[in-house]
Amino acid sequence: ISFRERLHSVMHYAKELFAQQLWENKEGRAIGYSYLRERGLTDEIIKTFELGYSLDKWEAFYNSAKKVDFTTPEMEGAGLVIVKEDGKKIFDRFRARVMFPVHDLSGKVIAFGARTLSNNKKEAKYLNSPETEIYHKSRVLYGIYQAKDRIRKEDNCYLVEGYTDVISMHMAGVENVVASSGTSLTEDQIRLIKRFTNNITVLYDGDAAGVKASLRGISMILAGGLDVQAVAFPEGEDPDSYIRKIGPNAFGEYLKDHQTDFISFITEVLLADVGDDPLKKTKAAREILEAVAQIPDAIKRDVYLKASAQKLGIAEEALQQELQGIFEEQQ
Ligand code: CTP
Ligand code: MN
Ligand code: MN
Ligand code: MN
Ligand code: MN
Repeated sequence: ISFRERLHSVMHYAKELFAQQLWENKEGRAIGYSYLRERGLTDEIIKTFELGYSLDKWEAFYNSAKKVDFTTPEMEGAGLVIVKEDGKKIFDRFRARVMFPVHDLSGKVIAFGARTLSNNKKEAKYLNSPETEIYHKSRVLYGIYQAKDRIRKEDNCYLVEGYTDVISMHMAGVENVVASSGTSLTEDQIRLIKRFTNNITVLYDGDAAGVKASLRGISMILAGGLDVQAVAFPEGEDPDSYIRKIGPNAFGEYLKDHQTDFISFITEVLLADVGDDPLKKTKAAREILEAVAQIPDAIKRDVYLKASAQKLGIAEEALQQELQGIFEEQQ
């Protein structure tokens, strides 16, 4: 049996242990399980996503895993323990956190995202597994295992930022959803979605960071040859908070009503404050052209260029000229 298989095996063990601690351990139930229930998660959804809890101890995982004959290199290789001082100090990476297993396409756990429950702002809200032999962050999307069949069926994939956005949308009945988990979208992640659909709808957080990430994501998706739409959320809201605010039915309606092509989305978010300010309009036009320039298909590019001209009220010839300029810069 190979080292890789042992890593899969120790990750499986960790997932089961964390889940057991969430459901059955006194601390886990009082802290982890209560937290999830207070956020509105049902028992069923906690099970679907195999959520768990890591105890507030330095060696709880290490000691349990050692007892069932996992070795330190296996635990360290899976990113579950940290080894210091030439092996003299070994401690659990994840402590006192709600554990979100990250699954590969076949449902095997390859990493964890771990949310703190403390309000201490100095502590990172989420702690994630490091890169390991079985986990390459840039190739994985959170939720893909639970979403893949529905993505194919709906011929569309919703792309969100966070773990809890994926989970809340599932509870609201929207199951074709994956998260880029806060990091910027990669070509490999887009290729992964492309195995199931050619359509992505970006649902990033309604804050400055989310808007910025949307613009970049849209360009990347277009460059990958996929079609992209987007939905903007009110300031300060993300899909999870918004579902809790307006309820699952209204959320479904909101998606239907606010899903727009990327040109309308970019125009809208960039012109949000000052509608006809010439400088803002110029900036929006450039952003849109940068995105249009990514589209590999020439006919599609032309269709979107015409749409941009109309949306912005700018002559098509001017946009065409500018687009040419962008192409020349890229040479
Ligand atoms: N993230 C991370 N490390 C952090 C902060 C965020 O890995 N320190 C990732 C997580 O995958 C997180 C996503 O980025 O889900 C989006 O971040 P954010 O919007 O800040 O968190 P939420 O998912 O909204 O978390 P919550 O609702 O639990 O506050
Ligand atoms: Mn099992
Ligand atoms: Mn965010
Ligand atoms: Mn968020
Ligand atoms: Mn959130």
